[in-house]
Amino acid sequence: MANWPAIHYHFSMSQSNPPAGLSSFAVLRWLSDAGADEAIGESPVNRFRPLPISAATPAGAVPPARRSAPRVQTAISSRPTQSNDQIGRARELAAASNTLAELKAALNSFDGCALKQHATNTVFADGTPTNGILFIGEAPGRDEDLAGLPFVGRAGKLLDKMLASIGLDRQTNIYITNVLNWRPPNNRDPSPEEAATCLPFLRRHIELVNPAIMVLLGAVSARYVMGRTEGIMRLRGAWLEYYVNERMVPVLPILHPAYLLRRPTDKKLAWRDLQAIAAKIHALHLLEPEATRG
Ligand code: URA
Repeated sequence: MANWPAIHYHFSMSQSNPPAGLSSFAVLRWLSDAGADEAIGESPVNRFRPLPISAATPAGAVPPARRSAPRVQTAISSRPTQSNDQIGRARELAAASNTLAELKAALNSFDGCALKQHATNTVFADGTPTNGILFIGEAPGRDEDLAGLPFVGRAGKLLDKMLASIGLDRQTNIYITNVLNWRPPNNRDPSPEEAATCLPFLRRHIELVNPAIMVLLGAVSARYVMGRTEGIMRLRGAWLEYYVNERMVPVLPILHPAYLLRRPTDKKLAWRDLQAIAAKIHALHLLEPEATRG
């Protein structure tokens, strides 16, 4: 996937099909970047059926471009079961949320992700969205599950130190969330189905924050946000591009602080990446008062 040519399109909750006119190869790439990178069921399910008007067209959103594309339906289809319905439900709830508070309430009301059954709390986000600096981690751990906030355990404390080293902190200038909103039991990796039910909320979360830059903490985050399956050692430190409503957002995958706790010798790599983040924030004037930002 690393060698695939660049294809210009953007993700948006309001664009649920690949743009018309893409080659089969580009459609596959679009699906992969959207997280549909494996077939998990035998029968197709139409995920692109028109949504109820209220869910499909939140204020100011462009109605989704519709096209009948059986090959897309087959590729993105999953088991014709509950989980499929739940992904559709997640998409509807996410699309109908027009503020972060609404999205949080939608997640709290959503019972379609199996992880929620074992979780103490839904972990939504922490920090300050107004500067447009969005960090995305993987999933809540035990401490986060108990507190209902991301990155409050040992890895979170290291993350706070990393942020502080370049003048950032969640109280004043960065916002942080996770790919998954519920703790996987024993911190295991999420199944593709579990991730798939959280992804519509994450994509809408990104749209609502409307970030100027994004930092992805670890391989799971890079995989589900960007559809990149390479190891984090290959991905870290190189800027990628994510499109929010046709605006390009620079994205930097970096080493996860939990990994750095296990491998402190790699902190030098993390330091280089932090410097790159600081330089980008400076170049984009993200810590300056809103009026002076470019
Ligand atoms: N690791 C993560 O990726 N996220 C958290 O919230 C905590 C630990």
